[in-house]
Amino acid sequence: MKEPVRVAVTGAAGQIGYSLLFRIAAGDMLGPDQPVILQLLEVTPALKALSGVVMELNDGAFPLLHSIVTSDDPMVAFKDADYALLVGAMPRKAGMERGDLLSANGGIFKPQGEALSEVASRGVKVLVVGNPANTNALIAQQNAPKLDPKQFTAMVRLDHNRAISQLAAKIGSPVSAVKNITIWGNHSSTQYPDLSQATVNGKPALGQVDQSWYETEYIPTVAKRGAAIIEARGASSAASAASAAIDHMRDWALGTQEGEWVSMGIPSDGSYGIPEGLIYGFPVTVKGGQYTVVPNLPVSDFSRARMDATAQELAEERDAVRGLGLVK
Ligand code: NAD
Ligand code: LMR
Repeated sequence: MKEPVRVAVTGAAGQIGYSLLFRIAAGDMLGPDQPVILQLLEVTPALKALSGVVMELNDGAFPLLHSIVTSDDPMVAFKDADYALLVGAMPRKAGMERGDLLSANGGIFKPQGEALSEVASRGVKVLVVGNPANTNALIAQQNAPKLDPKQFTAMVRLDHNRAISQLAAKIGSPVSAVKNITIWGNHSSTQYPDLSQATVNGKPALGQVDQSWYETEYIPTVAKRGAAIIEARGASSAASAASAAIDHMRDWALGTQEGEWVSMGIPSDGSYGIPEGLIYGFPVTVKGGQYTVVPNLPVSDFSRARMDATAQELAEERDAVRGLGLVK
C-alpha cells in the first residue's frame, strides 16, 4: 500500500461535497491503492454540519480513508495538501451584479491562494470548482506567488462530459464511443463545445449530425445545461459536478488515455491565440502528472469566432477583478 496523500476540499459541507468526499474516499479519484487524508475546510457556521458529514464518512468504513481533518482555517486545511479542490464559493444571490459576485469571491479565493502558497505541498494540484470557476482560479493563482501558475486549474470537465453525453444520445451510441470533444474557454454560457475534431465510433462526429442541429441545438444545450438543472432541480448540479471533479483530478494525477484528450481550464500560454494568463478551457493530454495542450489543431472561422468570444468574456472578468486589486 502507498503512503497516504493529503486531499483538501473546501465547501466540504455543501451539496457537491456530499457527493465528492465519498467518491474520493472510495478511491475513485486517485486509484484503489492510494490511501487519502481528507482535509476539509468550511466556514465556521457550517462546521457542525460538517461534523455530521465526517460521521458518515467514518460510517462508510472506507479502507482507503486514512484520516480526516476539519477546520475553518485555510492554513490548517491546506497544510501539506497534495491536491486541493476549491468548491466553496459565494453563490449569486438575487439582485447581485457580476461585480458583486467577483468581489465576494475575491474575499474567499485571495486568502485561499495565499494559504496554499504558504503551506500546501510544493507540488499541489489545485482545481477550482466554485463559480465563476475560471476567474476564481485566476484570483487564487495570482495570490500564490510561491507556486507555479500551472498548478491552478478550473473545471470545464462537467461541460465536457455534458457535451459527450448529448452527442452520444443524438447519434444513439454509447458515451464510450465519443472521443476528442473540446470545451474551449469559460465555464459559462459563452463556452464553445467544439465537435470539429470529435469522433464517434472512430468516424468524424460532424459527418453524423447536421450542422444546423450542431449550431442551434447542441451548442446552446451544452452551454446552458447548468441553468436547465437549476430550473428542474431547484438547486445547481451537484453529483454530476462532483463526478466531473473526480474525472479532472484523476486524469491530471494518473494521466489521460492514449490517443485521447480531455478539456481542462488552464492558464493560457498563448496557444491558439488565446491571451496569455487567462484560465481557459483547452484540449489537453496528461502524462506523469503534467498536462500539455494538444497542438496544431485546425481552427475554422466558425471556431475562431466562438473561441475569441469566450476569451473576451474571461478578459472582462479578469479586468473586473484587476480593478478590485485581486490580480495583477
Ligand atoms: P453549496 O452552497 O451547497 O455549498 C458550498 C459550501 O461552501 C457551503 O457549505 C459553504 O458554507 C461553503 N463555503 C462558502 N465559503 C467558504 C469558504 N470561504 N471556505 C470554505 N467553505 C466555504 O454549493 P454547491 O452546490 O456545493 O456548489 C459549490 C460551488 O460550485 C458553487 O459556486 C457552484 O456554482 C459551483 N459549481 C460549479 C460547477 C462547475 O462545473 N465548475 C458545477 C456546479 C456547481
Ligand atoms: C453548472 O454548470 O451546473 C453550474 O456551474 C451552474 C451554477 O450556476 O452553479
